[in-house]
Amino acid sequence: MNVLFESKNGTGYLTINRPDKLNALNIDTINELKETFLKVEQDKTIKCVIVTGSGEKAFVAGADIEYMQKLTPNEALKFARLGQETLHLMEVSNKPYIACVNGYALGGGFEVALSCDIIFAQVNAKFGFPEVSLGILPGFGGTQNLSRLAGKLIAKELIFSAKMIDAAKAKELGIVNEIYQTREELLSAAKELAVQIQKNAPLAVGFAKRAIVDGFGLSKEDGLRYEASLFGVVFSSVDAKEGLSAFVEKRKPNYTGG
Ligand code: HXC
Repeated sequence: MNVLFESKNGTGYLTINRPDKLNALNIDTINELKETFLKVEQDKTIKCVIVTGSGEKAFVAGADIEYMQKLTPNEALKFARLGQETLHLMEVSNKPYIACVNGYALGGGFEVALSCDIIFAQVNAKFGFPEVSLGILPGFGGTQNLSRLAGKLIAKELIFSAKMIDAAKAKELGIVNEIYQTREELLSAAKELAVQIQKNAPLAVGFAKRAIVDGFGLSKEDGLRYEASLFGVVFSSVDAKEGLSAFVEKRKPNYTGG
C-alpha cells in the first residue's frame, strides 16, 4: 500500500508511504490517494484529515521522476490532469485537511501541501519546486496555488530558480502556519488542532471553508454576496439553532452535524 489511512475519533490519518523513494508520487500512489479522498468524503464520521509522509526524510519528494521519464507528451498531460484532479479533491471537500510536512516537500509534494487547508512543518522541512531544473514545470497545481497563497512575486522566484527554502523561510513567506521541532510534536499539534476543529459545528466549518476557498477567485463584492448566502443557508441548520441556544442557555453545544 502506497497510501495508509486510518480514522480515530473523527480524525483521518493519511500517510503517503513509499519511504524508500522518499514518498515520490507514481501513478499507483496517485490512484490510491484519489480513492482515499473519495472514501473520506463518504464517511460522515471523519471531520478532519491529517496528511503526512512515511519515514524520517520526506513528506513527498515530488512526482516519481523515473515514472515520468517514460511518458509521452500526451501521457504527461493526462498525468498532470490526474494529479491536479486528485489534489483538488482536498480543496472541494468541506472537511479541513492539515498537512504535516516532515522533511522534503518538493514539486508534487509541495503541491500536496498547498492543496491542504493548514500547513504545519517540522523544523527539517524543505520546500521547493525543482521542476525547471529537470526541464519541466510544476503540473499538479503549483503555479496556481503558490501564487494564490504567497503572491506572484514569491511564486516566480521559487519556481524560476528551483531553489529550496527551509521551514523558517516558508513561515516568513506565509506558506507555513507553524513549525515544530520533532515529528511527535508536529503530529500532536495537528491532532490537537483537529480536535479543536471537531468541537465546532461541521456544517459551519465546511461552509466557512467554501467561503474562503471558492470566494478567493471572486471579486470582493461577489465574495461578500457568496459569504452572505452561505450564512443564510447555515442559519437553517439544526446546529446553528443548537449553537446559538447553547450560548443563551449558558451550556455547551451538542452538535449533530445537521
Ligand atoms: C523518484 C525519487 C524521487 C522522485 C527521491 N527519489 N526523489 N524517485 N522520483 N521525485 C528516490 C531516489 O532516486 C532514491 O532511490 C531514493 O528516493 C532516496 O533518494 P536520494 O536521492 O538517495 O536521497 P538524498 O540524497 O537524501 O536526496 C534527497 C533529495 C533527492 C534532495 C530529495 O532525492 C532529490 O532531489 N529528489 C528529486 C526531487 C525532485 O526533483 N522533485 C520534483 C519532481 S518533478 P534509490 O532507488 O536510488 O535509492 C514533480 C512534478 C510534479 O514533482 C508535476 C507532475 C505533472
